[in-house]
Amino acid sequence: MNSPAPLLAALRTSRHLAVLTGAGISAESGVPTFRDALAGLWARYDPMALATRAAFQRDPKLVWEWYAWRRRLVSQVTPNPGHYALADLAQRVPRLTLVTQNVDGLHQAAGSPEVIELHGNLGRVKCFDEDRIINGWTETGEVPPRCPDCGGWLRPDVVWFGEALPRAALAAAFAAAEGCDLFFSIGTSAVVEPAASLPRMAAERGALLVEVNPETTPLSDAASWSLCGPAGLVLPALLAAAWP
Ligand code: OAD
Repeated sequence: MNSPAPLLAALRTSRHLAVLTGAGISAESGVPTFRDALAGLWARYDPMALATRAAFQRDPKLVWEWYAWRRRLVSQVTPNPGHYALADLAQRVPRLTLVTQNVDGLHQAAGSPEVIELHGNLGRVKCFDEDRIINGWTETGEVPPRCPDCGGWLRPDVVWFGEALPRAALAAAFAAAEGCDLFFSIGTSAVVEPAASLPRMAAERGALLVEVNPETTPLSDAASWSLCGPAGLVLPALLAAAWP
């Protein structure tokens, strides 16, 4: 892949680089994306039946088991060269803010420091009634398990449709979008709000916008550079070209 010289210069001189990642960065690790027409999670399952408060209240066992399946899947995969390239990039620029919509923990596994998780993390659970993170529970065979404090149901600490995003994470993400000089949107269809507004806000504030995705998205036209290809190939090649 030939990396454009002005992009390499922008990368080498960036003072604050902000990165937004979506399901696409984990695709090469074997984690399904959401909107792939054939293999995507939302092509095979109805999000409204699995990823809302109402769905959980209607059938908590079904929803818990679906997330337990995803947790098992993620526990069996490892970061790919795209994740590692971003961890490496954090060592090369003065400041990198990594914001992810993913709940798989693969950026942390690759060594990225301070990952801002907009949609929570599959590995954490919280009390459905009290909305408090729970560190452990006693396995009694009941599904979902019960909160050790109040006896209510436990649920995954992920953001469901119709729920607000974690306030501190969202504020940190928007602050980075407003303050960065370079913004990378990687492996996201850029359609789910409010995350989809981050690259647009960065561009409005004067940051250069780079997209990494094998497909075009609603963001592609606004990007200064649209790097068409899988993140696991594009990102390592970009780093190698910028810091030979
Ligand atoms: P999507 O499934 O909507 O989009 C994945 C994007 O990754 C697509 O644009 C693909 O073209 C791209 N892609 C696929 N393989 C890739 C690769 N190897 N390298 C780079 N890009 C690749 O996933 P998200 O945009 O992450 O929210 O979806 C956003 C949110 O919608 C998710 O966090 C989830 C979902 O509903 C919640 O569950 C709250």
